Amino acid sequence: MKYYIKTFGCQMNVNDSEKMAGILQTLGYTPTENWEEADVILVNTCSVREKPDQKVLSALGEFKKVKKHNPNAVIGVCGCLAQRAGYEIYQKAPFIDMVFGTTNIHHLPNLLEEAKSGNKAIEILEEIDENENLLDRFPTVRENKYTAFVTVIRGCDKKCTYCIVPTTRGRERSRRIGDILREVQYLVEDGVKEIHLIGQNVTAYGKDFGDVKFWELLKAVAEVDGVERIRFTTGHPKDLDEDTIKVMADLPQVCEALHLPIQAGSDRILQAMDRGYTQKEYLQKIELLKKYIPNIALSTDIIVGFPGETYEDYLETVKVIKEVEYDQVFAFKYSPRPGTPAADLPMTESPEELSKRLNDLINLQKDITFKKNLEYQDKIVEILVEEINQENKLVGRTRTNKLVYAEGSPEYLGKLVDVKIEKVNRFSLEGSIIGGD
Ligand code: SAH
Ligand code: SF4
Ligand code: F3S
Repeated sequence: MKYYIKTFGCQMNVNDSEKMAGILQTLGYTPTENWEEADVILVNTCSVREKPDQKVLSALGEFKKVKKHNPNAVIGVCGCLAQRAGYEIYQKAPFIDMVFGTTNIHHLPNLLEEAKSGNKAIEILEEIDENENLLDRFPTVRENKYTAFVTVIRGCDKKCTYCIVPTTRGRERSRRIGDILREVQYLVEDGVKEIHLIGQNVTAYGKDFGDVKFWELLKAVAEVDGVERIRFTTGHPKDLDEDTIKVMADLPQVCEALHLPIQAGSDRILQAMDRGYTQKEYLQKIELLKKYIPNIALSTDIIVGFPGETYEDYLETVKVIKEVEYDQVFAFKYSPRPGTPAADLPMTESPEELSKRLNDLINLQKDITFKKNLEYQDKIVEILVEEINQENKLVGRTRTNKLVYAEGSPEYLGKLVDVKIEKVNRFSLEGSIIGGD
């Protein structure tokens, strides 16, 4: 019996898919890269913008064909779109056998049993399942042997007016530090060197416990023997405080890279988005980060064309991008999401104008990214060798999250090594290994 999982969306979904793979392997299924030969196909969906919604429906149209030669194959839909609109998807694609949401993934064994017996297994919970942490007991099946995601907080309590995530993922629930450390310990014993703590808002970690702070978690994870590198995503500018920044700077394991979404540069738009900070306050955090961690690589998310965004508002975003000099920017056009407060606001600019703003911004950032990469010419950087590609190059990332291709012996796989950078490209660096652990 074989399974195939198609994952859309963010790292939370990737980690959930790794857990579902763990469940399926525990049940005796083996993975396949070819959905046509799968007995179970799971589509783990995202709903953050309209495009991902559409992608799911077209993927389902394709996967439906599996039933021609394998009528008993089970097609399941889960994740954020399923949580938000599972019944609608089922109506649009009645051939699917299984639908479940984001807080009952641990019910997969029962749901699958139900679906295999020919019934439709549809379970979307309105309330958060209080036993959802049972999911964490399943092993993750990861593509990458040396770096691993660890979910530390689920859900989001912020109410950004454009965002569907609080609806699809529910309120914030932090995992107990002890449970997280046990998982980290297990991963390290399994060969993992880099731990990537994830959550929609990791900097809010522990708030629901009262007095636990995110930096305490950082310290605890750093103390686990064998953890060489720590990353975390996503931090929220409002919750990132000086104490956390100091701990990031002090712990040698915490990598010099941070994704800190600003979304927009204009105070008027930030307020309409209900982000809880002004441009000035955001830039003060960036200043602190650069002060304590001078070589930090920064990245951000931008929404172009939030309702009411004028050209002058947009120029404020451009100004921030030029001032911060991010290593990477993920920019998208605003997409109204059903049921969110911003969904009913009228769009004030034409789609063509917004496309132009988005393109100009992406082009501006391309040059900045390249300029930042050029700083690496002839430098020596540490990379964690994650794989060997078809051209026999070692592939890994710097602590600042730059992709590096290096000449060197395959025995370095899974090791931290020093690389001298000889060539700089727009999206990667190339060099040769000069020494390792
Ligand atoms: N929790 C993270 C982001 C989660 S969603 C944070 O607060 O930063 C990932 C990104 O999708 C967001 O940063 C935002 O830039 C984008 N996004 C979310 N809702 C959107 C919408 N309605 N239209 C366009 N982009 C959106
Ligand atoms: Fe969405 Fe805002 Fe929560 Fe991020 S912080 S997930 S953008 S509501
Ligand atoms: Fe998408 Fe859900 Fe993540 S909406 S971005 S998969 S939390």
